[in-house]
This record gives sequence, C-alpha cells and structure tokens, in this order.
Amino acid sequence: IKIAAIVPAAGIGSRMQSAIPKQYLTINHKTILEHTLTRLASVKGIDHICVAISPDDIWFSNIQLEPTRFSQVLGGKERADSVFNALTYLKEQAFDWVLVHDAARPLVQVDDIEHLITQCISHNQGGILASKVKDTIKRGDTSIKETVPRDDLWQALTPQMFKPDELYQALLLGAKQGAVITDEASAMEFSGHAVMLVAGRSDNIKITTPEDLTLAEFYLTNSKD
Ligand code: C5P
Repeated sequence: IKIAAIVPAAGIGSRMQSAIPKQYLTINHKTILEHTLTRLASVKGIDHICVAISPDDIWFSNIQLEPTRFSQVLGGKERADSVFNALTYLKEQAFDWVLVHDAARPLVQVDDIEHLITQCISHNQGGILASKVKDTIKRGDTSIKETVPRDDLWQALTPQMFKPDELYQALLLGAKQGAVITDEASAMEFSGHAVMLVAGRSDNIKITTPEDLTLAEFYLTNSKD
C-alpha cells in the first residue's frame, strides 16, 4: 500500500499578527513546519511527503530535507487549492491513500497518525482525526441565541486520510459548486462520501494565535522528541 502525505503550508497566517507566516516561527530552534515534517516522516507507512508552499515563500529553501522523500509544489489562493495542486502533482505516482496534515499542527502524535492509517485501511474508508467537543457551545453574536447540544459534536483535526482520486474529484466538485470547504472532509461530505471520525488527542492543536504558540512551546519542550 502506497501512502503519501500532503502538507498545505502556503498560508500567510494573518491571525498570528507576525511578519513571518506562522509555520516558519521557531520553537526550540526549529520552525513549526520542521516539527510537523519530522513527526510525519517518522510515521511507518508514509512513503512520500509533498509540501505546498506560497509563491512568495523565502523560508522553505532553508529547511534541509531528504530529496527522495519530500517534494514541493506551489500552493493556491485557499487551502483547498494548495491541496488540489499537491494532488495534481502526485497523480502520476498512483498512491493508494493520501493524508493531508496542516503545517500548523506540529503536536500531532505519531501513534495517532498510525491509528488513523490502520482504521482507514481496515475499513477501506476515508477518515479524519477528531476530538469530542469538551466545552459547552453557544450560538450567538453579542448575546446567546442557543446552547448547541454537544453529545455528537467533534472538532475536526488533521491528518485527514482519503483515496487521492476521490479527494481530487471532491475538491473539483466543491470548487465548481461553490461549497464551503474548510477541510478535506467537508469536500468529501459535499460529494456524498461517508467519512470516519477517528478519536485523536485534543492537544493536536492548530497554531493560529499567539496564545497557541505558548501552548505549543510548552508541549514541544515537554515531549519526548
Ligand atoms: O489558515 P489556516 O490555519 O486555516 O491554514 C491551515 C493550513 O493550510 C496551514 O498549514 C496553512 O499554511 C495552509 N494553507 C495553504 N494555502 C492557503 C491557505 C492556507 O496551504 N492558501
């Protein structure tokens, strides 16, 4: 079974209020992107990693990567476009599965990724890492309109694992019909595919704001690798 990972890393991270895109901020002498790629590269079963970077990127070339295992493509306007470009690039190599993982999630645990891979392969179905919502969720603007029942609410994490052709077609259809696509699963759902929820650790956060950076620093300093 041939498996590739796609890392969309072409965002500018405007919510971080930093001159450098968030994936290039440094934690313990390594950029967030390097932390993420190191974790993905140590997953048994991932044969190749394709990173989508911005045309304006001046940082990626400073990262030392094994050329046989990694490739790079230009990202697009939205995250979905970046993933689409990577899928297009990988098409010829006929991977059986592709895992898409945010550059900004350096805390993902290798055993969570391996669990996702095992589940998707054994059920022959796409799936995502997700964690059950812990907080009480309110809908509203300046005051509460309603409390949303949380029993079946999950937070979508990454990686998200699918058959590359199905994801490619789903992203095409979503773009054509103007669907709101904020992750790969939403494109698959829009196309009518069933997507598995695979429980993963909730500390697999996406670094978005300066507070997240402090948390990530804490976790990375106190983790084994
Ligand atoms: O902005 P957000 O945090 O949702 O981005 C999630 C991931 O998608 C980040 O790793 C970011 O670099 C990537 N992205 C991308 N191309 C874009 C926008 C975001 O690869 N056009």
